[in-house]
Amino acid sequence: MKKIADERVLVLDFGSQYAQLIARRVREQQVYCEIVRHDITAQRVREIQPRGLIFSGGPASVYEPGAPKCDPELFRLGIPVLGICYGMQLACEALGGRVESAPAREYGRAHCRTLGSSELLVGVPEKTQVWMSHGDQVSAVSDDFQALAETATCRYAAVKHRTLPIYGLQFHPEVTHTPQGWMILRNFLHAVCGCAGTWKLGDFAKQTIKELRRTIGDQRVICGLSGGVDSSVTAALLAEAVGTQVSCILVDNGLLRKGEAEAVIEEFTKHFKTDLHLVLAEDRFLAALAGVANPQEKRRRIGHAFIECFADEAKRIQGAKFLAQGTLYPDVIESGGTPDGPAATIKLHHNVGGLPEDLCFDLIEPLRDLFKDEVRKLGLALGLPEDIVWRHPFPGPGLAVRCIGEVTKKRLDTLREADLIVVEEIKAAGLYRQTSQSFAVLLPVQSVGVMGDARTYADVVAVRSIDSEDFMTADWSHLPYDLLARISTRIINEVPGVNRVVYDISSKPPATIEWE
Ligand code: XMP
Repeated sequence: MKKIADERVLVLDFGSQYAQLIARRVREQQVYCEIVRHDITAQRVREIQPRGLIFSGGPASVYEPGAPKCDPELFRLGIPVLGICYGMQLACEALGGRVESAPAREYGRAHCRTLGSSELLVGVPEKTQVWMSHGDQVSAVSDDFQALAETATCRYAAVKHRTLPIYGLQFHPEVTHTPQGWMILRNFLHAVCGCAGTWKLGDFAKQTIKELRRTIGDQRVICGLSGGVDSSVTAALLAEAVGTQVSCILVDNGLLRKGEAEAVIEEFTKHFKTDLHLVLAEDRFLAALAGVANPQEKRRRIGHAFIECFADEAKRIQGAKFLAQGTLYPDVIESGGTPDGPAATIKLHHNVGGLPEDLCFDLIEPLRDLFKDEVRKLGLALGLPEDIVWRHPFPGPGLAVRCIGEVTKKRLDTLREADLIVVEEIKAAGLYRQTSQSFAVLLPVQSVGVMGDARTYADVVAVRSIDSEDFMTADWSHLPYDLLARISTRIINEVPGVNRVVYDISSKPPATIEWE
């Protein structure tokens, strides 16, 4: 494990959908944190020397055969442990307690009462709200444990071992529905683990820039730009490190949002003076997509065309040795790319647009230890404009997967106009940062309308806006009606060929964020 922080905490992943969120919350407290496999050995943990261990939740029952367990030696290392949900059940059971299935699965907000005082709960009021999501719970603990909090249905909502630095929480401190959760995590990190909070992005940037200079030397490095924040921050970091030795490639595939290519060109030629190669490939992509309505086939063809365009342009750049990519920590974890990390879980279709390995470059991934919110902060620190840094994520296949049915220039232009209105209005309402992804989708459906005295038969646009912590699950944004009304009125009035707007009120799961 690379030494990028002098104090670190490990999150042992027992299959929780919240493991990444826990790690982000820890980093928000300026403590560097990594996610590792649940069965990491005590020997390996000793080598890493973390200040604390957090056991995540997970979907299994500890008493089931084959349920994920940890190395029991971990409890004897003297390193503080915080077990969350399944993690707590595991720790309590391993140390003499009993876990049983609760009479009813508990999901949602619960009122919690703290009992007595403990360093874990300093500052938490006696009555506090917590978020529960479990089927099992600890029904009895050994005499070594004491209860720190309870709810009406859960006797052991929080526990502490009397002699070892081991704590458990049945609820989830990492979600925003537990308003005091951050305080409990802070107490664990600072009061229990003794972390000073030395993880600073500024230091990370300085250190990374130094490392990039050393690795790249006087060689040339290529960086693909997509218009999104990850590739922009990667390019900015490289520009800061090795200046004019960076050649950026922007493939304008004709599937970008309105103004996106222009903003990136401006930034990386005028502000960061990189050697920017713009590949105008709209016609090539449109030709590849002609007559194709199947979503998977669209993705396949776009991926293919992208690789060709990129490789052609890269060949023209003389003497390039390195290729930089904006891979983030969640990508690394989900693809099983860390030695101590959990197994791969990635949804393969999101890798479309990835470059083949036979391009013969050495890969540089300067953001592979960071979460998206950290990348954004880093972008701002490097002087990237807010417009680029806060831009909502955008799928690799671009507007093609938001133009349901056949993709044509005319339909893309219609979609681009409608999409711009959605974003403009959500920004004007001050909700752009609160929502995670907001966009328009052009449906392959015509509907009857009336404009003036005439009957129309025109396109339908769906508006999609979601709120999400990690894009694995998402809720549709509860946008104010008057905002929805303004979006609808403007799209119908300003975008030719559209006479109806609908709002998508599906959450993920079972729907996905994108329509294709
Ligand atoms: P879904 O639609 O699966 O999307 O709920 C989750 C997140 O991933 C983005 N997405 C993609 N990103 N290539 C990408 O680079 C893709 O093919 C792709 N498909 C979906 C989506 O926009 C959302 O942020």
